[in-house]
Parts: sequence; structure tokens; C-alpha cells
Amino acid sequence: MTSTQGRAVTVAAPAGPMRPARYVVAAHGAETGDTVTLALRPAGSPIEPPRPGQFTMLYAFGVGEVPISVSGFGRGHELVQTIRAIGAVTRALCAAAPGDMIGVRGPFGTQWRLDVAEGRDLLIVAGGIGLAPLRPMLLTVLEQRARYRRVVLLVGARSPRDLLFTRELETWRRRGVEVRVTVDRADAGWKGDVGLVTRFIDGAVVHPAATTAFVCGPEIMMRVCAHALVHLGVAAEDIQVSLERNMRCGAALCGHCQLGPLLLCRDGPVVSYAEAAPLAAKKEL
Ligand SMILES: Cc1cc2nc3c(=O)[nH]c(=O)nc-3n(C[C@H](O)[C@H](O)[C@H](O)COP(=O)(O)OP(=O)(O)OC[C@H]3O[C@@H](n4cnc5c(N)ncnc54)[C@H](O)[C@@H]3O)c2cc1C
Ligand code: FES
Repeated sequence: MTSTQGRAVTVAAPAGPMRPARYVVAAHGAETGDTVTLALRPAGSPIEPPRPGQFTMLYAFGVGEVPISVSGFGRGHELVQTIRAIGAVTRALCAAAPGDMIGVRGPFGTQWRLDVAEGRDLLIVAGGIGLAPLRPMLLTVLEQRARYRRVVLLVGARSPRDLLFTRELETWRRRGVEVRVTVDRADAGWKGDVGLVTRFIDGAVVHPAATTAFVCGPEIMMRVCAHALVHLGVAAEDIQVSLERNMRCGAALCGHCQLGPLLLCRDGPVVSYAEAAPLAAKKEL
């Protein structure tokens, strides 16, 4: 509320994509020492249901707002999002307890394209927190398992303690996914593979021309994966990557997320490597 010449004037809250919806933390689960999964329940009108690959802007009141991908499907209008604490806002979100209020805008961006992968082999490659945006896509694949041929999931993490969704990896295996997990640095109890996830690309592709790949992780890892896949004969159009840039509005208004001709909050984060590769000369990927 403000006042002009003694008259009270009500200033309307911004509408549309810039107005956060209020959500309450319904559940808080620790994934690793620095990563939590939150289930968020609408405290008023919910946002549209996000699709796998899309993200929301999560607002920790009084601290700030950051883009976070959806990492699962909640009950009803609940949102499921997995956050790694690396700075002020993500630390505040990770510290949110059941009952705390969070602002949510979105959903924004493009989704993983499963429609172009029907009848084909799927190769899903996740590095670190990159498994979070891939998880709802993988859960969708499992619901429609008969639509796809071979499904391979390669997961890489810095150490065994950094692995996400460990309880689910075995379930996914039992449901017909070939899961291979590797860590950069083993610890005393680790009996699995050691080495960068990109090392395992060669063995994971049997029919390059009939393979669709979904890759999410640090940009260097996505670039090395995409190079290896193209080298094996997978078409750049059949490789989907998720690109991250600083975001402010999330709604194609501010230009913060520009990469070449793309506004990644609108034209990404999921793009094909055919689109992403020519931008390599501009910045990082
Ligand atoms: C489309 C999109 C989806 C995302 N999805 C997720 C998700 O599902 N889960 C999740 O945990 N994070 C996700 N992120 C990253 C997340 O938005 C950042 O970690 C967050 O903005 C950092 O904000 P902060 O205030 O906590 O830290 P800041 O203080 O902003 O940053 C702390 C440090 O981390 C570095 N940093 C900031 N952002 C990134 C980044 N994106 N990648 C690598 N380093 C960074 C900064 O340079 C700085 O050194 C996503 C980002 C985008 C663009
Ligand atoms: S974040 Fe503002 S234009 Fe994309």
C-alpha cells in the first residue's frame, strides 16, 4: 500500500510468471551430506504441473530465488525437488523444515523429449546432481517400459557419499534398467566402478543409429559424453543435454540466461546437442 496526496492507493502484487505461489514444505529428506529432497505442498493455488526436465524458481523468503529442476512426482499438486547446498539460497532451501513456507514460480523451460525416443535404445547419463532432473524422466520410462528397447543408466558421482537416490538404483535395476554406477574416488567400502562416467559410454551403446541419449551433469562432462556419443555414431539430434546458466526472471524477460540465440529459461534447459554444439565457441559447452 502507498499513498498519493493523502489518498491510499493499493499497489497490486505482480501477476503472471513473476508472482510466486506459496508452498509449504511437506517433507524434507536428506539424500547426502549436502543434498536434500523437498516435497512442497501448495498453500493456495498451485502452479501448473511441471514436466520432466522443467524447472521452477524457488524463493527462500528473505534470502533469494534460484532455479531448481523437478526431481520427481508428488501426490496431487505436490512438487518434488532435490537441492544441493552450495551458496546462500540453496543452503536456506536445504535447511527448510516441514511447515516452512517457500515461494514457487514456474514451471519454466523445455522438457526431456521422450516422444522421439519410442522404439529406440535409451542411454541416460547422469553426473552428480544431474541425476535429479533426469529422475522424473526415468520414472516415466519405467511406467511405459514397453515403449522403449534397451534402457541404460550411467551414474557418476565424486565419491560413494555423493551418490543420490541410492535406494532406488536397485529398484530401477529390477525393473529392467541396466544401471552402472561409478565414482571418481572410492572409499574403503566401495566395490563398484571407479573412474569418470564418460569412460563407460563406449560399452553402453550397441545400436548408435537407434539410440537416444539424455545427459545431465557438469558442462565438461556433458561435452565429453556428447563427443564420445557422436564419435560412436549417435546423431547430435538424438543427444539431449540440460544447460544451466544464471537465471533471474525465468520467464524470458530479463536476458540473464542468454546463450547465443537462446534464452535458456525458455528455449532450454533441455536442448539437443545439435543446437548446443555450435554454441560451444561462445561459452563453456
Ligand atoms: C535450469 C536450472 C536447473 C537447476 N536445477 C538444480 C537442481 O535441480 N538442484 C540443484 O541443487 N541445483 C540446480 N541448479 C543450480 C542452482 O540453481 C544453483 O546451485 C543456485 O542458483 C546457486 O545459488 P546459491 O545462492 O545457493 O549459490 P551462489 O552464492 O549463487 O553460488 C555459490 C557458488 O556456486 C557457483 N554456482 C552457482 N550456480 C551454479 C551452477 N548452476 N552450477 C555450478 N556452480 C554454480 C557460484 O559461482 C558460486 O561459486 C539449477 C540451475 C539451473 C539454471
Ligand atoms: S532468466 Fe530472464 S530471460 Fe531467462
